[in-house]
Amino acid sequence: MISSFVKSIGISAARNVRSIQHSAVLSSDNLFVHRDSTSNNVDTSFEFTSDNLKRAEAIMSIYPDGHKRAAVIPLLDLAQRQVGGWLPLSAMHAVAKLLSMPRMRVYEVATFYTMYMRNPVGKYHIQVCTTTPCWLRGSEEVMDAIKNKLGIKVGETTKDNLFTLSEVECLGACVNAPMFQVNDDYYEDLTVADTEEILDMLSEGKKPRAGPRSGRFAAEPAGGLTSLNAPPPGPGFMVRDDL
Ligand code: FES
Repeated sequence: MISSFVKSIGISAARNVRSIQHSAVLSSDNLFVHRDSTSNNVDTSFEFTSDNLKRAEAIMSIYPDGHKRAAVIPLLDLAQRQVGGWLPLSAMHAVAKLLSMPRMRVYEVATFYTMYMRNPVGKYHIQVCTTTPCWLRGSEEVMDAIKNKLGIKVGETTKDNLFTLSEVECLGACVNAPMFQVNDDYYEDLTVADTEEILDMLSEGKKPRAGPRSGRFAAEPAGGLTSLNAPPPGPGFMVRDDL
């Protein structure tokens, strides 16, 4: 049944044999296991900068007394941005201290959400979505184009420390599939040519235009608007004349 569906929408046989356990193994290791390294151990120094400390206090002030711990997610994000895209153990400890919470509670958050990187990443962290809608629309070709262009595999960083490649599950932009995320930006409706152009521009230190590459605005229908394409009727529309 699935194979006839796949055939009917024209997916190649090669795409049909995709390995799905490979990235899960990489991710679980990346997410849950800490192994001391020279750049990431309990003695690695980390302190919030004075600017970020002010930001942290502003974030914590949003939460009422007794619930300051709810700021753990934005504070971990702040720490990760300060370090350059990843979250060392010592940064988690700094967040735990700031929020007066047990380190274990912070580890639980940092290892649950895939937005926290537990190991150093390159200047540009490319996260390619390969979940079903993106896969059906060609995410494997996009992934292969990145691997070929950069000469790295999933989970690796280029020697010049410019790019790290990750394979991720749905990033919530399925209607603009296939897509990938580079740091905070989404690149959508991608072709192999778009992918190569984006990588070239990033290598040259330029900032490629984020969003759909197909020319459509945001997630509007690829064939033009099918609703909300006329001025809205005024008050009283469809209401009985005698009312
Ligand atoms: Fe790729 Fe949702 S499946 S963004």
